[in-house]
Amino acid sequence: MAGDTHAPAAAGATQQTGQQGTRKEAATRALADVPRVPGAKKPDPVLVADGVVRRFGGLTAVSVDHVEIQRGAITALIGPNGAGKTTFFNLLTGFDRPDEGKWSFDGTDLARVPAHKVARRGMVRTFQLTKALSRLTVLQNMLLGASGQKGESLLRAAFAGIWRSQEKANTERAMELLGRFKLDKKADDFAGSLSGGQRKLLEMARALMSDPQVVMLDEPMAGVNPALTQSLLGHVKDLREQGMTVLFVEHDMDMVRDISDWVVVMAQGKVVAEGPPDSVMADPAVIEAYLGGHHDVSLADEAAAAELEKEIEAEVEAEIAQDDAKDGHAR
Ligand SMILES: Nc1ncnc2c1ncn2[C@@H]1O[C@H](COP(=O)(O)OP(=O)(O)O)[C@@H](O)[C@H]1O
Ligand SMILES: [Mg+2]
Repeated sequence: MAGDTHAPAAAGATQQTGQQGTRKEAATRALADVPRVPGAKKPDPVLVADGVVRRFGGLTAVSVDHVEIQRGAITALIGPNGAGKTTFFNLLTGFDRPDEGKWSFDGTDLARVPAHKVARRGMVRTFQLTKALSRLTVLQNMLLGASGQKGESLLRAAFAGIWRSQEKANTERAMELLGRFKLDKKADDFAGSLSGGQRKLLEMARALMSDPQVVMLDEPMAGVNPALTQSLLGHVKDLREQGMTVLFVEHDMDMVRDISDWVVVMAQGKVVAEGPPDSVMADPAVIEAYLGGHHDVSLADEAAAAELEKEIEAEVEAEIAQDDAKDGHAR
């Protein structure tokens, strides 16, 4: 497709020292020769999906022909609101059922496997702190993460004592993870008392309770105070350095550029573009995906496009600020 050669990052220029950065370099190298086209084959895919379709009534929310997620890399899933990103996450992790299609994780067929089994096999997604979960303590939230379930089913699992047999080991692991995320002093506080950023850290820490290979983060930065975003980004990068595969949805393009090795773009349920962050964001198909459904604007008119981009950004920021006001700072 694009004829531009992708120059490798200047060796060592901004890399962190020691072990840090080695897996990032490996991921960059592994993806360097992957064609920048939707559905491109990866050298070592941990997740492969084929013909995954999910309809809601007359609406086709997801219709992904083929997608592969490279093992050990950070892949961003981007696309306008309503593109089907969350629905696709839910399908892959067993929280929703597709109308058609199949996918495999580490070579094993995962279609129609229920969520808690998907989690046990090593693929988890984060969940927002629901009202019910806000009334549990931070530690209790962590223990529920060990069961690989969510929301009300998490609560049911708790009362059924599913995790109780392993409570001691799980508590130790929970406290260790909370320490890593600097939430250990909050272990006995109600989760609802945490700030927006701390909630995101708890959501991430909770997902790690089941010791996953693949972590799927749905908008990990939404509602997070700018002062905390760097720390949160650092934690996401750490997951890769520990050998995990990360797939995340994020609206902030600066963050996507900063942390992802590869970007997959969805629009109207389909994968419409793929590639390294810089080449994807310059792709006219991507710009069209973002602007197409929004306003009737000539794509040739770059000034108008930039203007619209700002508008969309402002909308997203307003949304985030609203969420923040609702829960983040209501303590
Ligand atoms: N449970 C549902 N019932 C009906 N429509 C849904 C449901 N979940 C999602 N949708 C619709 O599917 C489309 C994709 O939504 P979603 O996956 O949330 O998009 P994204 O996460 O990319 O913003 C949207 O049009 C949304 O309204
Ligand atoms: Mg979503």
